[in-house]
Amino acid sequence: MPLPDQFLQELKLRSDIVDIVSPYVTLRRSGRSLSGLCPFHGERTPSFHVYPDNGSFYCFGCHAGGDVITFVRKIENLDYMEAVRYLADRAGMQVPESRADDGMAKLRMRILEINRETARFYFSVLEGPEGRPGLEYLRRRALSQKTIRHFGLGFSPPGRFALVNHLKKKGYTEEEAIRANVAFRGRSGGAVDRFAGRVMFPIIDLRGNVVAFGGRVLTDEKPKYLNTSDTLAFHKSSTLFALNFAKDSGERLILAEGYMDVISLHQAGFPSAVATLGTALTGEQAHLMARYAKEVVLCYDADEAGQRATSRAIPMLREAGLLVKVLNIPNGKDPDEYIRSYGEQGAARFKNLLDSTGNDVEYRLAKLKAANPPDQPAGRVAYLTGAAELLATLHNRIEQEVYAGKLAEEMGIDRTAILRQVDKLAQKRRKEERKKEFRTFQQETVGLRDRVNPEKAANLRAASAEEALLAALLRYPEFGPLAAEQLPPGQFATSFNRRVYAALLEMIKNGAEPSLSGLSGQLSEEEMSAVARITARYHDVPVTREDVKEYINVLQSEHAARQAEKAVNAAEPQELMRYLESLRDQKK
Ligand code: UTP
Ligand code: MN
Repeated sequence: MPLPDQFLQELKLRSDIVDIVSPYVTLRRSGRSLSGLCPFHGERTPSFHVYPDNGSFYCFGCHAGGDVITFVRKIENLDYMEAVRYLADRAGMQVPESRADDGMAKLRMRILEINRETARFYFSVLEGPEGRPGLEYLRRRALSQKTIRHFGLGFSPPGRFALVNHLKKKGYTEEEAIRANVAFRGRSGGAVDRFAGRVMFPIIDLRGNVVAFGGRVLTDEKPKYLNTSDTLAFHKSSTLFALNFAKDSGERLILAEGYMDVISLHQAGFPSAVATLGTALTGEQAHLMARYAKEVVLCYDADEAGQRATSRAIPMLREAGLLVKVLNIPNGKDPDEYIRSYGEQGAARFKNLLDSTGNDVEYRLAKLKAANPPDQPAGRVAYLTGAAELLATLHNRIEQEVYAGKLAEEMGIDRTAILRQVDKLAQKRRKEERKKEFRTFQQETVGLRDRVNPEKAANLRAASAEEALLAALLRYPEFGPLAAEQLPPGQFATSFNRRVYAALLEMIKNGAEPSLSGLSGQLSEEEMSAVARITARYHDVPVTREDVKEYINVLQSEHAARQAEKAVNAAEPQELMRYLESLRDQKK
């Protein structure tokens, strides 16, 4: 029973490969991928790579590779459906029409009910006498009654059993409360309230379920915030605070650091603010935002930690396809402090900041400039060189031209001179990448029997173009129609690549994006590894429409050559003689 494509896409979206792999492998970022020691074979230098942008992994040492599903299968020793179920549970999704573990599904439902009941309880406590300190605190932080109700804020009574007793009265067991992570197991074995004496922030998912809580102490005690750990119903790394409100607010999301910043922003009339839940931004969260917005304004604290988090978030958001802007708050304030410090005018002030926000390229140029003050000749050269290098990494021509223009004006030099330099650098990068790719392709293929694609060695030129084309389609779905129109699978030289290509065309025909995950149901583990190897090899090679046409050309001409050869082989001896003579005649 093949799983619906939509389900697989959603599952893939919610199962960020980095998050899935991280518990098993310590990953370090290297360029656009991450690497670490391979969990599938013993090694001392890392040859295991993870590629967040296409959700794949590949080990250059033992050649294991594939998508998230393949990874889970291999590392947890599961079959395909078991791995899908494992990831679906983790992502809080239902596997369609499956007899997916009923017990798990039921417990998940119970956890959601407990969370809802708990949110109701905390909210009612906040309104009663016991909640006075909490309410006063929220008032002090300038939250209106309306905002408090909108976010369903509450207060957890001090003591050890207030919530647990309430839940028991409502028919839930201690065990269930512990599984929901609103209680923990005390020394005596019984359940104890996890939150006590804290202002409570319920975290609500996109379907309106209360999935978790954050709780803030009223004093300077540590930890300042206590958050629900992952449960069957909650995965911190794929959830964003207030996205349930923000998702319909337009094309632009504001990403802030904390709960209070988000609430403050919503109250001030910026309902597009969201935040992560006390952890650094994950790829899953970036992709989630990309589903609802085109642009993200980063609005982290002005302190050093906030700036570091900003630098880290920019490439992740860009890789998810988002436009990125960076809002700098003056005087080292966080958004909440900033808005409050201007009282009535806070909202208007913040709007001004938002409207005058620079994008991430400007942000990075500003940092470069600060590090290389251009009023000194040496700084000037370093700034310009660094700027050209930065612009050369942008894949968008218009962007390059815009910034070259700004830079030219700022430094009093010719715009075309800057662009020429940028182009030169970009071309150099591309050429080097290309050369490297073909060299490794040859090295790996020649003298090495490829079990998955044994025809490769005899069809080096075609196979190389085939693999480049497959990688391009998996990374740039927009080239699908061009390939589908000009190159039928029959023109592929090697049958394995042909099979993969046909499967990708099928996905395109059905209106789906070609993806590794779409293949994982039809290919064996070894074959998935082979495809992952292909995408891994071409990972850092940007591909243009011209390149794709070139691959298609190569494959068409290789196909024609094979056809001609076949015709020659099949011909009768006399015919062949005639053919050879005709060739000789032509030469004369
Ligand atoms: P901040 O300390 O900047 O939060 O931490 P804030 O929301 O601005 O807090 P206050 O109430 O104005 O002082 C940013 C985010 O980091 C997480 C929370 O999600 C918080 O909103 N955090 C912080 C924790 O999870 N635990 C902590 O102990 C501290
Ligand atoms: Mn704050």
